Amino acid sequence: MMNTLPSINWTALMIGPETDSGVGAPAPALAREFSLSGGLPAEATLYITAWGLYCCFINGRRVGEDILTPGWTPYDLRLAYQTYDVSALLQEGTNHIEIWLADGWLRSQMMWKDAALTNTWGDRLGALAEIRSADDEVLLKTDASWLSGVTPIRRSGIYFGEHYDAGQKPGAFAGSVNVLPLDYSVLFAQETTPVRELEPFEAVASWEDADGRLTVDFGQNLAGYVSFTVQGDAGDEVLVEHAEILGPDGTIDNRNFRTAEAILRYQCRGGEPETYRPWFTFMGYRYVRVTLSGRARLQAIQSIPISSVREQTGHFECGHPLVNQLVSNTLWSQRSNFIEAPTDCPQRDERLGWTGDAQVFAGTACYLHNSHAFLRSWMRDVIAEQTDEGAIPHVVPNPVRRDGSRMPNMVGSTGWGDVIHVMPWTLWLHYADRAALEEAYPAMQRWIDFVWSISEGPIVRPPREWSERGFSFGDWLQPSGSTEKPNATIGDDAAATIYLYIALTNTTRIAEVLDRQADASALKSRADDVRQAFAREFITASGRIGYNDQTSYALAILHDLVPPELRAAARHYFVESIRRTGKTIGTGFIGTPALLPALIKAGEPELAAELFLQESVPGWLYQVRKGATTIWERWDAIREDDSIFEPDMNSYNHYAYGAVCQWLFESVAGICPDADQPGFRVINMQPVILPELGPVKASHRCHLGQISASWNVAGDRVTYEVDIPASAEGCFSLAESATDIRLNGQPTSLSEVLSLPSGAHQIEFRLPRLNRAMQAHQTAKQS
Ligand code: BGC
Repeated sequence: MMNTLPSINWTALMIGPETDSGVGAPAPALAREFSLSGGLPAEATLYITAWGLYCCFINGRRVGEDILTPGWTPYDLRLAYQTYDVSALLQEGTNHIEIWLADGWLRSQMMWKDAALTNTWGDRLGALAEIRSADDEVLLKTDASWLSGVTPIRRSGIYFGEHYDAGQKPGAFAGSVNVLPLDYSVLFAQETTPVRELEPFEAVASWEDADGRLTVDFGQNLAGYVSFTVQGDAGDEVLVEHAEILGPDGTIDNRNFRTAEAILRYQCRGGEPETYRPWFTFMGYRYVRVTLSGRARLQAIQSIPISSVREQTGHFECGHPLVNQLVSNTLWSQRSNFIEAPTDCPQRDERLGWTGDAQVFAGTACYLHNSHAFLRSWMRDVIAEQTDEGAIPHVVPNPVRRDGSRMPNMVGSTGWGDVIHVMPWTLWLHYADRAALEEAYPAMQRWIDFVWSISEGPIVRPPREWSERGFSFGDWLQPSGSTEKPNATIGDDAAATIYLYIALTNTTRIAEVLDRQADASALKSRADDVRQAFAREFITASGRIGYNDQTSYALAILHDLVPPELRAAARHYFVESIRRTGKTIGTGFIGTPALLPALIKAGEPELAAELFLQESVPGWLYQVRKGATTIWERWDAIREDDSIFEPDMNSYNHYAYGAVCQWLFESVAGICPDADQPGFRVINMQPVILPELGPVKASHRCHLGQISASWNVAGDRVTYEVDIPASAEGCFSLAESATDIRLNGQPTSLSEVLSLPSGAHQIEFRLPRLNRAMQAHQTAKQS
């Protein structure tokens, strides 16, 4: 559920340290002594935020366990503050408070090489803080009386990493502070779950190279940082470099980080062993290389993942080990990329809140982790970032809103901007969050008007150039196979028009939930116009769709864009489009999540299984077979011969293709939310039995409790077991004919949906399809 922290009438002032020398300079700090007499307050609450990142200490002890505070939002529009109970940190008499500040997202580099920006949301670091007693007496506040100094952090940045000089004595506060103008109306009590550390990983292997540098493999790609203990002389250095992969000779390969240095540089204090982990940065890596200077010796090193989402709510296990690893890879890609904003990747000079990636992954995200507060808060950023003409930025927070000189027009792509209706709808399905729909509804309408305006009509014709108004990524990274004989790929017009239709139908449903019937019928009739126009423009009389590629069929079939009389023909062409690619994937970012659900809808479960389980490239399990521990950005990131497809444009931790996990929960396990009774009050269970995956065991913890579903197959006989939480109801059905059906041992018929009250149930049935499949298998073996 959403955090509801109290909002306060601030008396504090935003103050900036005089010792702040600008971006890339040593991290400054603010400090103040204050005295408490006549007994300590029973309760004392610190309210605090900053421009830049902050870490606060009272009497030498760190406040709270949150990291990268105050988080990442479009700071000039929305700035979160945190609230901490600090009573246990205070003492009678003189107290010392210190606030360290760092560049963070506010002003360290954002965006890649040619587009790189600094000072994106501001060029001044500052802090705003006050401590209040239970009866609201202000015990301390930031104001002109504070002092400033510098910390041992010589430099820090989100992409850069951190340089820390432990020889630098903190504590000399000789500078003054400047009071900085602040618009208090942008402040809000933090809504998302804070970023924290997760369980650390120990090394699984390590080796030294000829130069004596130590490479450590932690066995898991992730986002976070290392913590190490070193003993050396004063000034000896530890340099830690990070990488997601190794080159053929076992050296780290981080060419894909591009301009993100992603290093830790630590200078020893000298003498006793000293332990360090960075304060204001994180990296995406599995391997580190440690270089020591002087007499420095490494005594210990661990890898510490961090994430905003820590409550795992989904588990899926089946009889296919590669699939289980794929699910684990998706979990890790979510953790790594749900750090303050849902980002594309955590390693290179991007790490941005790409809206399309978040849109396709939303459903999976909500199964795997409790993502409610995180996504809800980010949606408020999306709404705040919408342009006056209704376009949604490609990335939120949008770094180029204030300075678009290098990257004009980073807004308005169909499939990406569609996050504005897909995400609130997902929050409705999973968390029954009506307010999320209510809040985003006007923005959805404005988005639809924007998309319509690209070409003034139901067929959307996006321009080709990124810098032009209405540019669309289409089906980004859709594989086209060999250059000699490329596979068909969808055109941007078909992709954008399908997405306009999805936007209209989704928003129609949302208007209905919100009781706006007049809106709903207007939206519906517009949707009908688009559907008819799509059929005229993109469906032939014989049922070929779009560009005769997998994405066109998958999206059109899944979203009911095919006229009834052409459905059988379209299904046939769809199957053909998959055969033509040798049963490998021919879809990119927006087509992929639709592919398997569309095959199931088209009555092709065997083909869905074959496509899902094939291990060659492009395919989900290829990367797993190649040893991936998170989801890759590109199907062919590392080729069969271990060469790298495009060293610069590659990420090994990109959750988008992990969106297939939604299909595992909904279709394979049969745990699906219901739009009329959302939040899993009704669970629609229509499992698709794919014997190659059996036995399947899945669970999802929703706010009503734990939902479990499992099945196994013996011959043509299926046993499906479910556990429905209190206050919920299961609706079981099958999309194909079954015989010999028993519910909790009693014969029953499946002419209607079986209603399952809360508690455990067992449903047994025979599927003639499995018999046929077994016979076909036998015959193939014999011949
Ligand atoms: C990002 C994506 C994103 C895409 C859109 C890439 O650089 O990493 O995941 O959606 O650009 O073009």
